[in-house]
Amino acid sequence: MRHPVPLPQASRLLNHGPTALVASAHGAQRDVMAAAWNMPLDFSPPKVAVVIDKNTFTRGLVEASGTFVLAVPCAAQIDMVVGVGNSSGRELDKYAHWQIGTEPATLVTAPLIQGCLAWLECRIYPEPHNQQTYDLFLAEVVAAWAEDWAFKEGRWQDLPEPQRALHHLGGGNFFTSGGLLQGRPKPA
Ligand SMILES: Cc1cc2nc3c(=O)[nH]c(=O)nc-3n(C[C@H](O)[C@H](O)[C@H](O)COP(=O)(O)O)c2cc1C
Repeated sequence: MRHPVPLPQASRLLNHGPTALVASAHGAQRDVMAAAWNMPLDFSPPKVAVVIDKNTFTRGLVEASGTFVLAVPCAAQIDMVVGVGNSSGRELDKYAHWQIGTEPATLVTAPLIQGCLAWLECRIYPEPHNQQTYDLFLAEVVAAWAEDWAFKEGRWQDLPEPQRALHHLGGGNFFTSGGLLQGRPKPA
């Protein structure tokens, strides 16, 4: 039997991609927030889309610097992910509060957050209409990094539970990715 899904929950039916962190920095200010609404858009040049709500502190830093880092956290970081997704950089320095270690990125001002599986350094395509109306940011990925053990030869590996990516189901609930399956095209 099918059951109707309330429209405010419709995105959850599709949004099993990894929850990301959006790291941002401008001048002396820095921030990080959780972002489940993110997706790849293109191969070459690689592009991404991410929703950054206008009420977030992140939003101002991203618009001012024109850049951000999308990082892919893992299950071992779940409390930090939920924490930075439920607090604002207006009130606290989240990096200090959650003792988040960082390394400098290569092409953008925002840092690479230690302990994550992968990092995409992104430069936004200014699209004021999309940003203002839909909170939607389109960006080019200008550099990308992944841990050797997590992403090999262009593929995510089947990782132990604490190192698996987090997939947000709503209300602070997540699945982790795992259980690698390989599909084969039908022989000709
Ligand atoms: C798991 C999770 C996923 C989230 N996904 C998004 C998202 O895709 N876009 C968004 O604007 N906010 C999202 N949020 C909410 C922001 O992370 C939240 O508003 C955060 O407090 C903003 O921090 P800031 O004010 O320091 O920028 C998410 C929160 C959680 C916990």
